[in-house]
Amino acid sequence: MMDWTDRHCRYFLRRLSRHTRLYTEMVNTGAILRGDAQRHLRFDAAEHPLALQLGGSEAQALARSAAIGAGFGYDEINLNCGCPSDRVQEGRFGACLMGEPQRVAAAVSAMRAVCGIPVTVKCRIGIDDSEDYVFLRSFVETVAAAGCEVFVVHARKAWLSGLSPKENREIPPLRYEQVYRLKQEFPQLQIAINGGIRTLEDCAKHLLHVDGVMLGREAYENPYLLAQVDRQLFGDTHTPPNREEVVLGLRPYVEQELAAGTALGQITRHLLGLFKGQPGGRAFRRHLSEHAHRRNAAWPVIEDALALTASRAAERPTLVLA
Ligand SMILES: Cc1cc2nc3c(=O)[nH]c(=O)nc-3n(C[C@H](O)[C@H](O)[C@H](O)COP(=O)(O)O)c2cc1C
Repeated sequence: MMDWTDRHCRYFLRRLSRHTRLYTEMVNTGAILRGDAQRHLRFDAAEHPLALQLGGSEAQALARSAAIGAGFGYDEINLNCGCPSDRVQEGRFGACLMGEPQRVAAAVSAMRAVCGIPVTVKCRIGIDDSEDYVFLRSFVETVAAAGCEVFVVHARKAWLSGLSPKENREIPPLRYEQVYRLKQEFPQLQIAINGGIRTLEDCAKHLLHVDGVMLGREAYENPYLLAQVDRQLFGDTHTPPNREEVVLGLRPYVEQELAAGTALGQITRHLLGLFKGQPGGRAFRRHLSEHAHRRNAAWPVIEDALALTASRAAERPTLVLA
């Protein structure tokens, strides 16, 4: 997610779940081919399994970017066919690519030919007034024929004009049944569902119909949800770290990043939701928000936030039933 799932965010989320596949923000081919590829693509080895999401529409530019991404060690290249922002539409990529399935198929072929790792597609169930389901089916059929075996489907249409990107994540109705139907009609494909999913119980229900679930906003705003994923959905029996252990485990990473010139706030901004709904959680959020962006802010800011959280939690009255 743009501006959210940067490398600091992913490093943090990986401490919560070993098995969840993480996705980068969308990176435009121009940023890779004409910008600072190292800045946009570098990541920590701990982040695996990790998919690089590309934004673009020209097969050759996408292929060159995919090859560079594979060279950086990503596990998957994902093509964005779901973003409806105006800026993305000007470049004729994102969700408007759903109107050009042959172009997407050509891009997938070109990327597969050079990168040696799976090439996958993230899309919507349709755009504007596309016919229900028939349009989605035909898009997936065309792109799958080019070798794409995994589709992540945000179960809403995108309206290419009239709605902001935020509204496009909220207003078009969710139609999960269309994604289930896709899996029924293309059982050989891996279909993952996305959109409005907020609990692991709901993930488990969707997994009765499809192969995977992608969480966006909930995973970012309430990241501790991921701590139960390995146990509940992947059958891994290791004991998940508690919230404080997660934070303390970040210390070597934070100190290494600070030494390399990263500002503390660039890392801690992704931690703000970790204590969501917990006693003292507001104090954690507030302390980081107020102190981590100050000049020369360093690790003690985080330790202070933890101490404050613990003391606020201890102040809460305990209900005793006798
Ligand atoms: C701040 C923000 C940035 C996003 N950026 C991307 C992006 O770069 N690529 C993408 O495929 N989807 C992006 N999305 C959409 C999400 O991946 C997801 O499809 C959408 O939020 C619906 O899922 P959710 O209800 O679980 O959040 C973004 C969403 C948000 C809130």
